[in-house]
Amino acid sequence: MELANLRQQVEEVAVRLRSKLQQVSNPADLEAFRVEFLGRKGRIAGMFKLLGALPQEERSQAGELLNELKASAQRLFEEREREGSRNAATERLARESIDMTLPGEGRPIGHLHLLTQVQHEIETIFLHMGFDVASGPEIETDYYNFEALNIPADHPARDDWDTFYIDDTHLLRPHTSPVQIRVMENSAPPVRIVCPGRCYRRDTQDATHSPVFFQVELLWVEEGLTLANLRYIIGLFVHEFFGPGYDVRLSGDFFPFTEPSVQLHMREPGADKWLEIGGAGMVDPAVLANVGYDPETITGFAFGFGIERMAMLKYGIGDIRTFLANDLRFIRQF
Ligand code: PHE
Repeated sequence: MELANLRQQVEEVAVRLRSKLQQVSNPADLEAFRVEFLGRKGRIAGMFKLLGALPQEERSQAGELLNELKASAQRLFEEREREGSRNAATERLARESIDMTLPGEGRPIGHLHLLTQVQHEIETIFLHMGFDVASGPEIETDYYNFEALNIPADHPARDDWDTFYIDDTHLLRPHTSPVQIRVMENSAPPVRIVCPGRCYRRDTQDATHSPVFFQVELLWVEEGLTLANLRYIIGLFVHEFFGPGYDVRLSGDFFPFTEPSVQLHMREPGADKWLEIGGAGMVDPAVLANVGYDPETITGFAFGFGIERMAMLKYGIGDIRTFLANDLRFIRQF
């Protein structure tokens, strides 16, 4: 072994480590590079072992050569390592950065149920005419639901409302008319209110009946009102809600709390069939007296109709059960 020999090996290793370094493309390659050249059993360590085989006077020069080789290998390794972690950081930044130009993830937004929309629309129409919106409890007393509305116990008209009773004096209201009484008891005429709300009847479900449904009650109490005023308000409402060109007609009916009582009908433009849309009448003097009004001077009219029925007529819905079926294909249409 001679110095010249070793010098040649050093040059070969120097060339080899540079070319190896060029092939490094990931942290595992870089580690393999470190083990091959700088490891405890690596090439450079192996060459240090050869020093002992050199003549004494050549050893220090050879040691210098090897130390230089080792230092340059170490420097190249460290440079590469720094470069690698810089790249990794850049990559991570690129990966984690947010592209503000990408479209957002859509979140489906719900909307009000058709029935609620229709209720709001009806309220708005009457609010514009100067009515207030009032409400009352769904669990009602026998007094407000029947007695005060001129329907004493044992009156046969009670059978017109198939009522769910809770106990002897409480029931699920089968109509919104009790709200009339609650409002009149607490205010002096003039009274102009609409009362939308849920009602309950022991009806068997079919395409036009549901044990739970919504009604809107209207009440206008003041001196000097007549059936003509009622007829006018109904006409105005039908015009606003359904559109122009509808006819409205009243026919005789009976409710214990109105006298006279009428049934309301409307007819679509161009149609010959009349459609029933609700019940109405002049507030019975007995009802006015029950709330402390003077029936000699005070007059009033009221009407009530089903919100589902209004929606069904307006949107061509054939079955009342679809409102509560929770089928999104139905709900999303409106
Ligand atoms: N409350 C009646 C019903 O549910 C409707 C109605 C209201 C009739 C107001 C006349 C006046 O059948």
